[in-house]
This record gives sequence, C-alpha cells and structure tokens, in this order.
Amino acid sequence: MKHEVVGELEKILGKERVSTEIADLYVYGFDASIHHVTPDAVVRPANAQQVSEIVKLANRTETPIVPRGAGTAMCGHTVPVKGGIIVDMTQMNKIKELRVEDLYCVVEPGVIYDKLNAELSKRGFWFPATPGSGEACTIGGMVATNASGMRAIKYGATRDYVLGLEVVLPTGEIIHTGTRTLKNSSGYQLDRLMVGSEGTLGIITEITMRFTMKPKASGMTVAAFKSLKDAGQCVSNIIAKPLLPSAIELMDSVCIKAINKCMNIGLPDCEALCMIEVDGHPVAVEEEMVTVEEICKSTGAVSTEKSRDKKKIDEWTQARKAIMPSLSRYGEKFVSVALADDMSVPISRIPEAVVAFQKIAEENGVVVGTYGHSADGNLHTKMLVEPYSRESWKAGEKAVGMIYDKVLELGGTVTGEHGVAITKAPYMQKERADSLGAMRAIKHALDPKNIMNPGKIFDWEGSIIYELRYPAFLEPSCSSTPCNQCDNEH
Ligand code: MLT
Ligand code: ZN
Repeated sequence: MKHEVVGELEKILGKERVSTEIADLYVYGFDASIHHVTPDAVVRPANAQQVSEIVKLANRTETPIVPRGAGTAMCGHTVPVKGGIIVDMTQMNKIKELRVEDLYCVVEPGVIYDKLNAELSKRGFWFPATPGSGEACTIGGMVATNASGMRAIKYGATRDYVLGLEVVLPTGEIIHTGTRTLKNSSGYQLDRLMVGSEGTLGIITEITMRFTMKPKASGMTVAAFKSLKDAGQCVSNIIAKPLLPSAIELMDSVCIKAINKCMNIGLPDCEALCMIEVDGHPVAVEEEMVTVEEICKSTGAVSTEKSRDKKKIDEWTQARKAIMPSLSRYGEKFVSVALADDMSVPISRIPEAVVAFQKIAEENGVVVGTYGHSADGNLHTKMLVEPYSRESWKAGEKAVGMIYDKVLELGGTVTGEHGVAITKAPYMQKERADSLGAMRAIKHALDPKNIMNPGKIFDWEGSIIYELRYPAFLEPSCSSTPCNQCDNEH
C-alpha cells in the first residue's frame, strides 16, 4: 500500500481511528477461518460519510479494502489476501429505529445479533436467524454472508428479513436500496444482490430489516439412534409428516463424544442423535412433541427424552453450540477446522450424504465430525487435522473435494449459511460454473478496479490450504519465511 494513503486516512478519520500498529495488523489478519494475512492498515469509521471518503481514497489509489464486522466468518471473508485496508465496522453499532407497529427496525452494521434480539425480545419480537455465533456476530456481517442457523427451516435466513440497505459502492457513492415497507416490487432488488456479496460489491452502512413475533412456547426432544442413517431418515420423516419444527440438530458419535468429554452433560452415548425443537402456541407444541416422539420411535430411535423446561432446552442448545470448540479436544494432537463445513443437500438426501461423509473420512484416514441444522438439509462437517502436519492438511483437502463432489451429485450446494470467501472458492466455482461469467460481469460493472475484498469467491485461484494461520508448511530451511504460499518441498 502506498505510504501516503495512511496520512490521507488520518486526515479523513483522525489519528485515533487509524492503526498501523504491528499488533493490530496481526490480529486483524484473522477471522474464524483457517487463513491469515496481515493487512497494511486498520480503520474504524464512525459514519457512512467517513466510509465513503475511505472508499474514494481506496478507489483513487487502487488500494484493496476489506470490510469487517466481528470477524466470526469461517471461510476467510475478512482475511485481506491482497493486503490493503481493513474497515472495522463495529464502531457503527446503533439501533437507530425500532418500530413494532411497522414491523421493521433500522440498524447500523456493527449491531450485535444478540443485542438486537435483546431489544426486540422486550417487545415480544425477534429476528430468528439464530447464527451459532449470535453472541458476537454483527448484523452487517450476517447480511454480507446471508447468515442463518438452526431455525432457518421455519424462519428463513438473513436475506428474508432485509427490507433495504444503505451501501457505499466501490466508487464511494452512497446508495439506498429497498424500502421500509414489507412489500416492494420497485425495480431491481439490489438489496438481494448485496446480501451474500461478502464485501465484494460495497460496504453496508445501514440495514432496514423486518422481524417477527416470538413464539409463546417451545419444546425439545432428544432422540438417540443406532445409526447415522436412521437419524438422517428421521429428519426427512418429520418434515414429510407434514410437521414444521423450528429446528432439528443432528450429530454423529464423534460430536457426541466430544461434547460429553468437554461439557459433562451426559448426552446418550449412541451413534447419532437428533435434537428436535418445536415452537408456537403451547397446545400445538404439546401435540407436536407427541407426534415427533412417535416418528422418532417408528424410525428406530433407541431412546427419546423430551422437555418443555426452558432451562433444560437451553442446556441442550448450549451443548449443540459447543460442538465446534469441543471437537478440538476430541484427541490431543488435533484441532477442529472449518473445511467443507456447511454444505446443504435436499432433505431426503441427508441419510445418503452423512453415510458418504463417514466413508470418505475413513478412506482418507481423517477424523470428521458431522452435525448440522438438518431440518433444512444444512450439514456441518469439521475435520480434525494435525495443524503442523502437511500430510494431515493434504489428506483433509482431498476429503473436502470428495465430500463436495458427493454434495453436488446429490443436488446440494457447497455452502448453506457460511458463504464462500476462500475456503469454499474452488468448489463453489465448480457448482456455479455456468454463472461465474455473470457474477464477474456484475463485479466488474460496480468495481472495475477490483478494490473491494479482492481475491475471493470467483477470484480465488488454487488450493484452499494456502495462506494458513498454522505454520504447517514452515520447514527449518525457511524458518524466517513461512511457506504458506509455497507448495515446494523444502
Ligand atoms: C453453528 O452451526 O454452530 C455454526 O454454523 C458454526 C459451525 O459449527 O460450523
Ligand atoms: Zn451452523
């Protein structure tokens, strides 16, 4: 990055909102993915006008620019692979309007998901997208990735709640998309294009979003199965009944063992289990829980336990949320990493998918934990790799390719909720082969100098195990230069 850019940033924002401190640059090089690249500068704007000035400067000087919320992205969305400026949006964190009578609110991008829900909840409403990182992730980041979580089957994803956006385009121009009304057929739905664009088309500076009523009651059933296939079949049987649960979380024995080891919660020691949540009017919840139990038993559940007690439901939900960190303690030499981590398949193909994932893991000698928001077909796999072993990463990468090939064969997608960025890029490019040209044309029309989050999605070339946060390829002969970029033997 050109040296004078920092001085200009300081003029726009004041010195206190710009950092080139080595420690800041280092930490802003991470998100929750396996990747790391150090940026050249970090800025923390306070309003849309400042964002616009920063972007104009980046455009004029052709400096890469990467917007960032809480950094909970799992595929490298905020890792600045081409260097440049990280724009930390967390200082823009006000709820500007909250209108229950109109069913919408207007928020800045740095508002944290759980904080927004705490405000909505006081009034009997919620934004039910339920990302696993809800305590930390920002609404701006959720919009940028079309994030969701366990309740998407009933309540949809972030895209379904966005009514309008204020966006700073790559030229620095500020535009407003969408409306404050619940319906809108007014021209191209540019907000729909921006949702899920992962910071490649502009920087979101304000979000107008709808919300919905909180259910009066909920209940959860935990059903244990003797095979992962039976558990997968149970998901499909519940949906086809027809019955609309608010969530079905499936997990395999690797995940169950990891949770029991870390949390001492005593989940049934079985091959697979489903946590099935229903919500709504208390009478409906009671009835649906009876139906759910019948379906679980007729699909081969070896045990079921159900509860309408909030404390118990929270305990089970916390156990589910703890899968990812718990997997890192599954075996001493392993860390759990986000590779092939959030594919979606048609619901009826879940049994086939989960059995195939297990087989692929075995064939490649890797340990894989499979779990996920199975009610809508969204599955997570986490690979347990030895972080400093080149062979372990290579085996993981091979398994990833095979898993995604299976997902595509089953009519699925490589990412249901986390997005593409780096870690999914080669596989998404395969999935979307015939529309990559159209995506590139849109990108080029809005960002001809390619300054906004460059090197991601259709722009990433090569393997996903480069730019790693782990010095797996660091060999003694090149100890001063981590060989993340280099595929040579040393
Ligand atoms: C979740 O479901 O908790 C999140 O998507 C993170 C993950 O486990 O991959
Ligand atoms: Zn998830």
